[in-house]
Amino acid sequence: VVMPIIRWNESFLIGITEFDQHHEHLVALLNQAYDKLITDEPMENTDILLSELRAYAGYHFGAEEQWMIEQEFPGIEEHFKQHSSFCREMDKFQKDLAGGKALVGIGVLSFLVEWLTNHILKVDTLYRDFYEGKKSR
Ligand code: FEO
Repeated sequence: VVMPIIRWNESFLIGITEFDQHHEHLVALLNQAYDKLITDEPMENTDILLSELRAYAGYHFGAEEQWMIEQEFPGIEEHFKQHSSFCREMDKFQKDLAGGKALVGIGVLSFLVEWLTNHILKVDTLYRDFYEGKKSR
């Protein structure tokens, strides 16, 4: 059994079930990609997982953005920027990958782990705090 590159834990829970489930799935995809990378599987299997991660991140960001619009969250613009910068990075990486200019390595996965952890803990919690405040008014 391979050690996970990122361990899901309670600190990731923001308290909005739908998004917690999305985040947990993103973490699972990262661990699967890591698992494929460090075992003897063909490299394409890691690439496939990264494509899946990119697609699922797009789906998750879309759901969050829609929700933030409905909730009239004031930090929406900054949050959107973070999402699109992540998508741009991943698209660029995948393009380089397809063109043979990049390889999936531990550096890429570490970047993704760091980005996701920081985003959930420091950015997604902002809309959660806003929502909690709104509910208690
Ligand atoms: Fe859960 Fe803003 O991504």
